[in-house]
Amino acid sequence: MTEVSNETRFLHAIEIGLGAWQWGDRLVWGYGQTHTDKEIRESFDVSLSLGVRFIDTAEIYGSGYSERLLGEFLKETEQPVLVATKFFPWPWKITKGFIPRALKGSLERIGVEAVDLYQIHWPSVTMSPETMMEGMVECVKRGMTRTVGVSNFGEKHLIRAYTTLARHGIPLASNQVHYSLLNREVEKNGTLARCKELGIRLIAYSPLEKGLLTGKYSLENPPPGVRGSQYSDLLKKLPPVMKLITDIGLEHGNKTAAQVALNWLICKGALPIPGAKNSKQAENNAGGAGWRLTEEELIKLDEATDRIREHSK
Ligand SMILES: NC(=O)c1ccc[n+]([C@@H]2O[C@H](COP(=O)([O-])OP(=O)(O)OC[C@H]3O[C@@H](n4cnc5c(N)ncnc54)[C@H](OP(=O)(O)O)[C@@H]3O)[C@@H](O)[C@H]2O)c1
Repeated sequence: MTEVSNETRFLHAIEIGLGAWQWGDRLVWGYGQTHTDKEIRESFDVSLSLGVRFIDTAEIYGSGYSERLLGEFLKETEQPVLVATKFFPWPWKITKGFIPRALKGSLERIGVEAVDLYQIHWPSVTMSPETMMEGMVECVKRGMTRTVGVSNFGEKHLIRAYTTLARHGIPLASNQVHYSLLNREVEKNGTLARCKELGIRLIAYSPLEKGLLTGKYSLENPPPGVRGSQYSDLLKKLPPVMKLITDIGLEHGNKTAAQVALNWLICKGALPIPGAKNSKQAENNAGGAGWRLTEEELIKLDEATDRIREHSK
């Protein structure tokens, strides 16, 4: 086990965050129809009031609108907020210089001099992990980001990024990956173990499996839009899992399904960043932290979901 570095220790102290993909995204999340700036602002305020201080956005979310909204909110709060954003590796971005240039744009939109975490959104088809990390080194040297992370990196890319940064004495702070009770790929492909071994914080995205784990969707009532077809197979297998999650929640003084699903990730050593469209969802999700499932419950949840994605999309 590599010891967690001093620079990245703050990330390991955070139990839960708030995802900001919903802030301005119309295609997947129906921004403007299911939620507006007012509801987003309320979800931000409630999260902060409940101790959630880590916000994850990206230059691509709402084509920059998510970062702009965050900037507006930050101006109006006295609370300390930790900001994470991401570089999107469009295939025409082929040299390391694109990375500090993109970060400059993000900093302008967010209205800060530096972010706490700058992440590469996906591996690039045209830039090697080494070149991308050289770009990240520039960002750190120029004081534009406190720490460096990656996202959607498998083990091989992760090691290449980690090694490149290490040559400059910079730790790889995090790897943001899809991880939920309904998608446990990172446990099976070695990514979670490797992150723990190297002191890299694993940030879990889509921790509620885009709303499925809240219990409000079923085969009869599928999620709207693209999510409906994405999850048609998984929805068939959902009822027994949701029953178990609900029963476990009741045992813990009426914790909701979302709270159980988020707590399971915290118990696994991950940092979940659920998205929320309004204050009610944000409040519910914040309650996923601050308590612990028992060992026995974790085993039951593991057993119930171990093979759920086999033959599912
Ligand atoms: N790095 C990457 O490639 C990547 C990819 C995906 C996401 N992310 C990040 O991870 C964050 C979270 O992932 P995600 O947004 O994909 O999915 P998620 O957090 O699993 O699900 C969010 C959605 O679930 C529903 N929901 C959330 N809390 C709820 C509650 N308490 N009760 C009822 N419904 C609730 C809402 O949609 P409805 O009300 O419409 O159901 C919400 O938009 C994103 O915001 C983003 O920051 C990163």
